Amino acid sequence: MSTFTIDSGTSRANPSPAPGKRLTVPALRARKGAEPIVCLTAYTMRTAQLLDEHCDLLLVGDSLGQVIYGLPSTVPVTLDMMCAHGAAVVRGSWHALVCVDMPFGSYEESPEQAFRSAARIMKETGAAAVKLEGGEAMAETIAFLSARGIPVVGHVGLTPQAVNALGGYRARGRDDAESAKIMADARAVADAGAFLLVLEGVMEEIAVEATKAVACPTIGIGASAQCDGQILVTEDMLGLFERTPRFVKKFGDLAGEISAAASTYAADVRSRAFPGEEQVYRPK
Ligand code: KIV
Repeated sequence: MSTFTIDSGTSRANPSPAPGKRLTVPALRARKGAEPIVCLTAYTMRTAQLLDEHCDLLLVGDSLGQVIYGLPSTVPVTLDMMCAHGAAVVRGSWHALVCVDMPFGSYEESPEQAFRSAARIMKETGAAAVKLEGGEAMAETIAFLSARGIPVVGHVGLTPQAVNALGGYRARGRDDAESAKIMADARAVADAGAFLLVLEGVMEEIAVEATKAVACPTIGIGASAQCDGQILVTEDMLGLFERTPRFVKKFGDLAGEISAAASTYAADVRSRAFPGEEQVYRPK
């Protein structure tokens, strides 16, 4: 595990041992069919520090709306929120490529609107890429951004920003028409120039077929182990929530650990066992 020393000039915490160079867009694009790409979400500096050395990509997902802000969906998430959290994650990472989600309403109107929003995200955060949801309808925008120096990660299948249109978060591709649409979306987004493609909440065989069909690496979430990489919401996989979707594997029990620590703290405060000798100041 990395340790950190504070640079008093910049207040930046530098990791020791110093990591190599940050992963780049071409380096991740070249991982098609090769070593799986490890991705997790991150919204804060400290979480980014802890995840960075283990991940190839850190996504500042608009899932922060629900996870951090307790919002009912990702729809109310704003560009201001994404920029603030994106900058924190860039400050807390050195190795992983950082990608920031474009929030609902910041890109769908036109390629020009998308360019303005994406440029703001990249200038204010230092992130190397943006992610946006949508298939064929977003192909023109993805091509517009890619041609102007903005690397784009696509996202098809279950697209949470469209929850109101979809009527919920159920997995997609259960019938032929839905499967055909997801395949057409995947091809359109990849052909438009996306350098990675997130496949979320789709039947396994569609994820396998799409991974074979598109030139860029696919990143699965509720998709298939045969995707070129995987992503999960960090708080889900750490076990911060009791209820998680079927596709989440809990790799930790953060909820249990936080609750146990808070309970011990409360007991120590009530019994005056805290603060103890080691936590109080006395004149030397
Ligand atoms: O917002 C998010 O966290 C995401 C993924 C987990 C893919 O879009």
